[in-house]
Amino acid sequence: MSRRKQVYEGKAKILFEGPEPGTLVQYFKDDASAFNNSKKGTITGKGVLNNRISEYLMTKLGEIGVPTHFVRRLNMREQLIREVEIVPVEVIVRNVAAGSFSKRLGIPEGTPLPRSIVEFCYKADELGDPFVSEEHITAFGWATAQEMDEIMSLSLRINDFLLGLFLGVGIKLVDFKAEFGRFYNSQTDDVSIILADEISPDSCRLWDVKTSEKMDKDRFRRDLGGVAEAYQEVAQRLGILPESGPRDIQGPKVMQ
Ligand code: TMP
Repeated sequence: MSRRKQVYEGKAKILFEGPEPGTLVQYFKDDASAFNNSKKGTITGKGVLNNRISEYLMTKLGEIGVPTHFVRRLNMREQLIREVEIVPVEVIVRNVAAGSFSKRLGIPEGTPLPRSIVEFCYKADELGDPFVSEEHITAFGWATAQEMDEIMSLSLRINDFLLGLFLGVGIKLVDFKAEFGRFYNSQTDDVSIILADEISPDSCRLWDVKTSEKMDKDRFRRDLGGVAEAYQEVAQRLGILPESGPRDIQGPKVMQ
């Protein structure tokens, strides 16, 4: 790991100061956590795969005009990103019932939703990231109504695009979580909302179209095994990995 100044350490990623003002280096760890940190483990090679998958998806989203924090990948585990002020809200877009949605509403996992549903959680580990509405978000000033309009519209565009992209490689995008940030453009003196964090099998539910086999972090959450193999399969289907896999993966294993 580098000797740059660390500015933040999360469960799966570390942020370092970037080479220029307004930039950061995002380092992807192999650590995994679930259920508000009560389950922890290491998935060998996960960081390398998520770095590559998130690079690919953010680049593709950038190509259709979705503004993102991604600048360029630096190496196997690091990418250069734009520094943003994170909006403390997790945006979840769902196409098929699963996870907490199925539990909360009693709708069996795998039930297709009549339309894509957007949900919000307040980012607060000590509270377990509680479910909130736009009312809470605007009333407490976590984001303005205008910012929420932008976040909603970007989230639905991201969902539409990723649904098609994954379907093209035989994967159903069941749901995903996105985070957004305020980016200050010093050239135009403007502040705008851009996609931040990561988009990877850590933050999406991805099911094989034919078999409904899970190819995402639910394999870790539910002790299904084959976590890194599943992430690797996602990368391979997206065409971003050689058949042999990334060079610094010794062979997948999960350690609790
Ligand atoms: P959920 O069904 O557990 O609410 O998760 C919905 C989606 O959001 C799923 O793809 C996993 C993702 N997610 C995260 O990336 N981080 C989180 O902290 C949570 C709760 C969910």
